[in-house]
Amino acid sequence: MTQDEKISEENNLNRRNFLAIGTWAIGGFIGLAMTIPAIAYLIGPALKRDEEQDWIRLGSTSKVELGTPTLFKVKVQRQTGWIENEEEVSVYVLTDNGRDYIGMSNICTHLGCRVRWITDQEQFFCPCHNAVFGKQGEVITGPPPRPLDQYEIKVEDDQLYILVG
Ligand code: FES
Repeated sequence: MTQDEKISEENNLNRRNFLAIGTWAIGGFIGLAMTIPAIAYLIGPALKRDEEQDWIRLGSTSKVELGTPTLFKVKVQRQTGWIENEEEVSVYVLTDNGRDYIGMSNICTHLGCRVRWITDQEQFFCPCHNAVFGKQGEVITGPPPRPLDQYEIKVEDDQLYILVG
């Protein structure tokens, strides 16, 4: 093999290596370009909704009697990963002056039973373990470790909204 033939063969090898590396690089780039959106599509819903919160309209402020917790029930769409379901949320709304409102969950903070407002006793009662909560959700007697949970609440155009996560 002459010196020229050796140089020519080395050049061919370098060209072949360059083409092989180039082909792998382009293939890898195309593979990544197709894989990343597919992975984002697959895991996106699982990551997405956790921190999202929505204002849900409860209804008119005119339904709330001054000084008496008034029960509102609304349907809320919840998405957990790919699963979307509808859930009913019940909220007691209280105002003493028609301007400042609090929204309380009707779920007992002991083991999750539903409390109800007893008008003539002016207390919430949980039938599961006989807990009693005051008008603003504070624990009066029984095993609940804390007051009724509260929702962030706002009024717009005489409509009540709660923040649901
Ligand atoms: Fe309400 Fe136990 S669940 S007192």
